[in-house]
Amino acid sequence: MLNPEEFIEDSIQKIKDEIGDEKAIIALSGGVDSSVCSVLVQEAIGDNLIAIFVDHGLLREGEVEEVTNTFQDRLNFNYIDASEEFLTALEGVDDPEEKRKIIGKTFIDVFEREADKTDAKFLVQGTIAPDWIETDGEIKSHHNVALPSGMVLEIVEPIRDLYKDEVREVGLLLDLPDKVVHRQPFPGPGLAVRVIGPLTKEKLDIERKADKIVREEIEAAGIDKEVWQYFAVLTDTKVTGVKGDQRDFGYLAVIRIVKSVDAMTAYVPELPWEVIKKISQRITSEVSEITHVSLSISDKPPSTIEFA
Ligand code: XMP
Repeated sequence: MLNPEEFIEDSIQKIKDEIGDEKAIIALSGGVDSSVCSVLVQEAIGDNLIAIFVDHGLLREGEVEEVTNTFQDRLNFNYIDASEEFLTALEGVDDPEEKRKIIGKTFIDVFEREADKTDAKFLVQGTIAPDWIETDGEIKSHHNVALPSGMVLEIVEPIRDLYKDEVREVGLLLDLPDKVVHRQPFPGPGLAVRVIGPLTKEKLDIERKADKIVREEIEAAGIDKEVWQYFAVLTDTKVTGVKGDQRDFGYLAVIRIVKSVDAMTAYVPELPWEVIKKISQRITSEVSEITHVSLSISDKPPSTIEFA
């Protein structure tokens, strides 16, 4: 790419030329790509960019607040709480691929409904180079998308030639906070791939509490900068524990921490034992529904990074 300063200047001009005085919408997830893309397009067309942040009820602890605080004063920011709609659609669903399909479809339903309320002509997408090079190598995948109302949105992909490290450089130059620019990857289907078995609000809350502890301790130990992803998984298995002199029966949670360059392969690094023990002790003492914590030591392949 051009140097990041030139890229930004050049992109802003191109976006202005392409979108002009029309309106555009973007689905903002809070991840690096959609965040950088939103801020870049906002620099070009101001509040004519409508950023839609869909809460599918599968986000991590504190995530809604973090995304809202970062963007509500900086973008034409619209928070849509669709968590009930997603959880209802997912009720009783066990199979991970089925969960993904339902989440994908519900996301499109919600987003299109919101898009239809605007008079946007353009849909901005935070596609980056590996997204299209890995999938089909097509130079331009699609140029427009039709909404249920029949309205057609033209697709704009301002960062499609950038790689992740370049996206991060651009983000920093656009004054995005370091914690946004260096955020660990988080899957689109969110905690649905980290809570095994049918989802319930209760299980999602247990997962959130455990995951928060993993994040806090890994960040406090400075390990977050060295690893690709670090999170907790809530299995659907219940195991016996002991609390005081009482038998307890609760969930088995798993700590998953991997190093990777591109997520195609990954390995579990050796980790400081005191950090792992502290995470386990905190989870079993602070999350009463969890009786047992284990550490995943499987690389990818043969395992995948996520559990589902
Ligand atoms: P796996 O589990 O396949 O994950 O080794 C590789 C990388 O992709 C992320 N991941 C997903 N991202 N939708 C996403 O947007 C998904 O359905 C999905 N599944 C996995 C995962 O977090 C890891 O970084």
